[in-house]
Amino acid sequence: MKILATRRYPGPAFEELGDVEILPLSSLERPRPDVEGLVVANEALPLDLLPGLRVVANFGVGYDRIDVAACAERGVVVTHTPGVLDAATADLTLALILAARRRVVEGDRLVRSGGWTGSWADSGLAEELTGATLGVVGLGRIGSAVARRARGFDLRVLYTRRRQVDTDLGKFRELDELLAESDVVTIHVPLTPETDGMLDARRLALLRDGACLVNTARGEIVVEAALVAELVSGRIRAGLDVFVREPEVPRELLGLANVVLTPHLGSATRQAREAMTRLVADNLLAVERGEPPLTPVPS
Ligand code: DGY
Repeated sequence: MKILATRRYPGPAFEELGDVEILPLSSLERPRPDVEGLVVANEALPLDLLPGLRVVANFGVGYDRIDVAACAERGVVVTHTPGVLDAATADLTLALILAARRRVVEGDRLVRSGGWTGSWADSGLAEELTGATLGVVGLGRIGSAVARRARGFDLRVLYTRRRQVDTDLGKFRELDELLAESDVVTIHVPLTPETDGMLDARRLALLRDGACLVNTARGEIVVEAALVAELVSGRIRAGLDVFVREPEVPRELLGLANVVLTPHLGSATRQAREAMTRLVADNLLAVERGEPPLTPVPS
């Protein structure tokens, strides 16, 4: 099976794919009927240029930029990589919560700039994380991994989910209640038409003064202009790993001490990324053998 991959994906499993051509989709200018398999990282697909396509293997769990319906119409299978990046993303979420809440990056900048001149007793005061209330928006695989880690910090966990479940990970709340009741809110829902813009200005205004919002899911879930306004006002804090127009980040955020910014690092551990490539390869190889893929996206 002729495979086109938009980059060399990390890990040894990539070598198991025989006939692979590395080509960014922006360089695909003429029809390529020879290509049957495509590896992308949540990218829009030029389906008209790939008439022989049988399978799209997405390197990542989120596939919001892939037109799954158009693929289904053409009989193209789409796969993704759920599960293997839960731990990495949950770990980064905790890192952002701690960094934003305990002013870690602000402190680092102060030390590097030579601005740390007084006594430790005079500066750096922050709100404690231990014992705070954590609101998990979306108690799926990653949200649950975050909730399990929250136990180590004695956090009281609230969660939203499409359907309330019987779980000891936290207590169910409707979204508005969760926002109003939490000290830290962390987002773990996929980007869909229902979640696009879900945290708008009205909902952000429900957050407590001094609350911390962490987003390792998708930038579009929060109305970015409204979030920027809240952060510029200094009313809330945030740890943001995702943005609406990556790699662009709203300029207003760059100088703010109350926000920690990371470049979409959620799954960026060697272990997670190599496991993602493993799953990409296993899905492609299964389709090549005429077997059902391991982790198809629901269509
Ligand atoms: C995903 O898998 O959707 C992530 O955004 C990559 O970290």
